[in-house]
Amino acid sequence: MEMEKEVLKYEEGFNRAAGAISRFPLIELKGVPLRNYIVQNWSSISAFEPDPTDLLIATYPKAGTTWAQEIVDLLLHNGDSEACKRGPTVDRFPFLEIQYPPPIPSGLDLLKKMKPPRFIKTHLPIQLVPEGFWKHKCKVIYVARNAKDNLVSYYHFHRMNKAQPDPGTWDEYIQNFMRGKLAWGSWYDHVKGYWKEREKKNILYLFYEDMKENPRQAVEQIMRYLDLSVSEEVIEKIVQLTSFNSMKDNPMANYTFIPKIMFDHSVSAFMRKGEVGDWTNHFTPAQSQVFDEDYVRQMADVDMPFRTSL
Ligand code: A3P
Repeated sequence: MEMEKEVLKYEEGFNRAAGAISRFPLIELKGVPLRNYIVQNWSSISAFEPDPTDLLIATYPKAGTTWAQEIVDLLLHNGDSEACKRGPTVDRFPFLEIQYPPPIPSGLDLLKKMKPPRFIKTHLPIQLVPEGFWKHKCKVIYVARNAKDNLVSYYHFHRMNKAQPDPGTWDEYIQNFMRGKLAWGSWYDHVKGYWKEREKKNILYLFYEDMKENPRQAVEQIMRYLDLSVSEEVIEKIVQLTSFNSMKDNPMANYTFIPKIMFDHSVSAFMRKGEVGDWTNHFTPAQSQVFDEDYVRQMADVDMPFRTSL
């Protein structure tokens, strides 16, 4: 008889497998660079069958995933902050496609252990999302962030996350972003892919900049999309609990639960700045011009309301 596989909590898994963490190489899958472990396990990831009640939160990396996750969890728990500290983000919201060396649990390992409705995170571009999510008409929340701030945030994340490829120089990094060579592929294709399908597939499409400008409105939009109704007081409480500073101080949301061997917050904190417009502190005028010209070409087929300042 097949023995049931022991599924560890992430933290425990990381501690046991610390020596196996390295800057994992990327392999292209259908033109999208992904971590080697993801590509090697692709058949089971793409065959994942969600339940119709499961919720998917999809983003390009560093667009505000963790923020949206915390809002969702608090809404579903009527603003009960203690209930939302039942575990770190990675255990509360399994990361669909993530795969590591054993015994670190994969996203699929954690999902198998949970009963629906589950809150699932993905960075997959829309064309790689397992078909079951569309077949079962699962709800999907997508968060998009303007390209330049997204790039800056991802750059610092590459520096601190020792499982991501080496970022190279800042200039090389910009080139790789523009060419879609970073993990999870082209930012341009990612944001456009979900945008074009948002109505047909009933995707709630949010912008990081709107959330920053009016966090209360974001909480209300998510609440309505999830067919929930919480009191004005609870909405206000959720806005406070999901402010950048509150989440930075929340050990169950700030990713300090990932051991230093992988996430080195002394290089750059996961909760780094949480601002709109930090790109102006990074791009030179020349880099900005090249980026903007290329942006116009890559985004010519859509009219998307991105904002790079508030
Ligand atoms: P910065 O690096 O610009 O600070 P993700 O969760 O998708 O990995 O995105 C992480 C980015 O979102 C980081 O951006 C992080 O600081 C920011 N972030 C996380 N929680 C936030 C919040 N409550 N308000 C604003 N920004 C937040």
